[in-house]
Amino acid sequence: MLKNLMSAAVVAALISFPAYAQKVTYTKDIAPLFKENCIECHGDGAPIYKEFKKQEKKFTEEKLGPRMDSYPLLISHIAWPETGAIMRRLDDGKATGGKPGNMYRHLGGDDQERQKNLALFKAWVGEGGWNLNRWKARGNVPAITKEQLDKLKLDY
Ligand code: HEC
Repeated sequence: MLKNLMSAAVVAALISFPAYAQKVTYTKDIAPLFKENCIECHGDGAPIYKEFKKQEKKFTEEKLGPRMDSYPLLISHIAWPETGAIMRRLDDGKATGGKPGNMYRHLGGDDQERQKNLALFKAWVGEGGWNLNRWKARGNVPAITKEQLDKLKLDY
């Protein structure tokens, strides 16, 4: 009887957990997603950001974006110095109330897959950490706050 009650409680707990109750990590979740969808343009043939910026037009024409195929490089487009770049480019428009970011379409072959992969990225970045703010305010995008930075999870 006690055993039955306990397993019912366990099942109820499992069902009520959010989709990504299990910890989302770079190695387990994000690196494979990146390899599948992003690496062809952001891999080891791509320039690091500072290099990219020197010849942005040329690299873009060659379908090469900044290199992001490692944990520290990817983080540099989330936390600093390219604060919020991943969020601005991957968001589906819900966080902005506007158009999806221009890398959203690369998240998957159909909208179901794109939504699934966006949810995974968001869970990895952290609830409340997903915002489009920059390090320094620009136009109507505000500067990020310490409280917002504290919400970044980014587990390895
Ligand atoms: C077909 C090539 C291609 C694919 C695939 C691609 N990108 Fe890009 N990406 C680019 C190019 C080229 C740029 C630079 C031009 C621009 O800013 O749009 C860029 C820019 C970016 C930037 C802006 C970087 C910054 O700091 O300004 C981010 C972030 C980004 N991509 C993330 C991704 C992610 C994540 C994926 C996979 C889901 C992905 N991209 C897939 C070509 C690609």
